Amino acid sequence: MNSLPIGIFDSGVGGLTVLRAVRRRLPQESVIYLGDTARVPYGVKSRGTIERYAVEDAGFLLRKGVKMLVVACNTISANARERLRAEFDLPLLSVLGPGARMAARVTRTGRIGVIATEATVESGAYERAIRVASPNRDVEIFSHACPLFVPLVEEGETDSQVACLVAEQYLAPLREKRIDTLVLGCTHYPLLKPVIGATIGANVTLVDSAEATAEETAQLLENRRALNQSSSGGVSRFYVTDAAGRFHKIAERILGEPLDYLEAVEVWGHDKLESK
Ligand code: DGL
Repeated sequence: MNSLPIGIFDSGVGGLTVLRAVRRRLPQESVIYLGDTARVPYGVKSRGTIERYAVEDAGFLLRKGVKMLVVACNTISANARERLRAEFDLPLLSVLGPGARMAARVTRTGRIGVIATEATVESGAYERAIRVASPNRDVEIFSHACPLFVPLVEEGETDSQVACLVAEQYLAPLREKRIDTLVLGCTHYPLLKPVIGATIGANVTLVDSAEATAEETAQLLENRRALNQSSSGGVSRFYVTDAAGRFHKIAERILGEPLDYLEAVEVWGHDKLESK
């Protein structure tokens, strides 16, 4: 059981920011990553559709044999976490909780901005989680949906002029709110960190939940005595639901290393489509 991989999934490449942090924190663990590239973006879809996709994604990883699931997608965390818990009997951790707890820890003034997909903002899940994590103080939370950030990242447009223009349009209203902390409430957004940081201003702390999620993953496995004790390093296997070639290029750029194994699959039927 302990040598089984950790399953990590997202709608596309965004969850690779979480995978990168998990690999750094737990180098002895193997990981299976699923990016649902055929159906990205999830953030503009309805709750029912997000739930259905999430169940299919998680089901695929379970069939592969994983010891826990890391939901590396805020949109799924915000809209389908209860459904996943009801469907699957497996330890499950999602990025939203660690991100909210970190924001509550780092804010000095209690004025917190949250940028995320439409589906995450509409769910109100971040506001609730930040308030739960700040029981003894007043916090003001300003949420803003940034739908164009996801396609920019999926296209690899992370430091272009277009990215700067889009960031200015989305973040100008938040600058006026005098926030001191900004939650990157979508796992795609850390890939735009330089642009987001320059636009919102150096006095605002950016919260990227990847590190905190990796830390909580380590704690969860340790508490359950499920850490891989092997001294050899873990391996990562990647699955996508479409366009493996595109994913391959962007993923290697994000991870800064070649992918050992990449395969395109249908998560609903689990049929092999193409291999690297
Ligand atoms: N990376 C995902 C998130 O954290 C979702 C992006 C999308 O598919 O819209 O919300």
